[in-house]
Amino acid sequence: MSDAAFLQADAVTKAFKVQRKGGGLMQSLRGGQTSSLRAVDDVSLDIARGEVFAIVGESGSGKTTLANLLARVTVPTDGRIVLDGEEISRGTGVDLRSLRRRIQIVFQDPGSSLNPRQTVGDIVALPLKLAGMRGHRDRGERIAELLEAVHLPADFATRYPVSLSGGQKQRVNVARALALEPNVLVLDEPTSALDVSVQARILALLMRLKQERHLTYVVVTHNFGVVRAIADRVAVMYFGKIVEVGTVEQLMADPRHPYTRTLLSAIPVVRESERALIPSVEARDGELPSFIDPPRHCSFYSRCPSRQPQCLERAYPALVERADGRKVSCHVSAPTT
Ligand SMILES: Nc1ncnc2c1ncn2[C@@H]1O[C@H](COP(=O)(O)OP(=O)(O)O)[C@@H](O)[C@H]1O
Ligand SMILES: [Mg+2]
Repeated sequence: MSDAAFLQADAVTKAFKVQRKGGGLMQSLRGGQTSSLRAVDDVSLDIARGEVFAIVGESGSGKTTLANLLARVTVPTDGRIVLDGEEISRGTGVDLRSLRRRIQIVFQDPGSSLNPRQTVGDIVALPLKLAGMRGHRDRGERIAELLEAVHLPADFATRYPVSLSGGQKQRVNVARALALEPNVLVLDEPTSALDVSVQARILALLMRLKQERHLTYVVVTHNFGVVRAIADRVAVMYFGKIVEVGTVEQLMADPRHPYTRTLLSAIPVVRESERALIPSVEARDGELPSFIDPPRHCSFYSRCPSRQPQCLERAYPALVERADGRKVSCHVSAPTT
């Protein structure tokens, strides 16, 4: 890991216990058999201070699970999360309280993460209350400041979430996340639930807040358009693993992993002249691998347009660093330098 690493995942795995389908009558009577599902499987990441680091991949690839691990919403089954040199994946009580001042998460669904029975003011002030800031007058001022920071009128403090638009709800989520002035924001699909025109405004707001408050962002998205708009570097996830990681320029101009290529082909182009810049590769119509019984070989094999017989014979390809600094896990896409 590089010296510059600020937020790191070090060989992190998150396994969930799930009921196994099938099995005999006796097994069902005993409550079925449980298996382990590795939603995040041996992931290592290095995020630099001040960076906008994107995690991209299709639905079910493990992005939310990884986001929750990075923000210490959940703890890993294996491996460690390290923030500024300190392991944050263990510890309790006071440790966690001080951690909330350093790292915050904005959850995937802007609507359901707001309590419908609380006013916007109470929602935004909740972290302050939990952190022990009880002064009534101070709290009112802080709420007004936070609403202003996300460009909401101060009188929104007395309104309820039900009266807000999707974009306004997301602004409230961001204001709440900023309440304790964290250094790191983990944003899980921050614009996916919003109309396209609103998406652009929320992304612009996030970028302005980042500059003003010297924040580090981890942005989870299934949308490469969002990556292109705001990210410095990007990790591509497939089936619980990172298959390619590098700068946005590297991945956009010259994707090395076949899965990255298929993701890029799916981006809508704004101008016809852009079409030539984007490689057109489609994934095969293969079945998705099973999380319960994952293959030993490359998990993208069943859908890979570039697969070779060796991919079936060899073990899962290691994520190997190339001369240009990016990392790729693919037997077929050989280093170019
Ligand atoms: N609490 C959980 N219990 C069991 N399985 C889970 C749980 N959370 C996520 N999963 C499973 O882990 C996989 C990855 O999910 P998730 O991290 O939500 O992916 P993404 O955000 O990329 O859509 C999915 O197969 C999902 O069903
Ligand atoms: Mg998700």
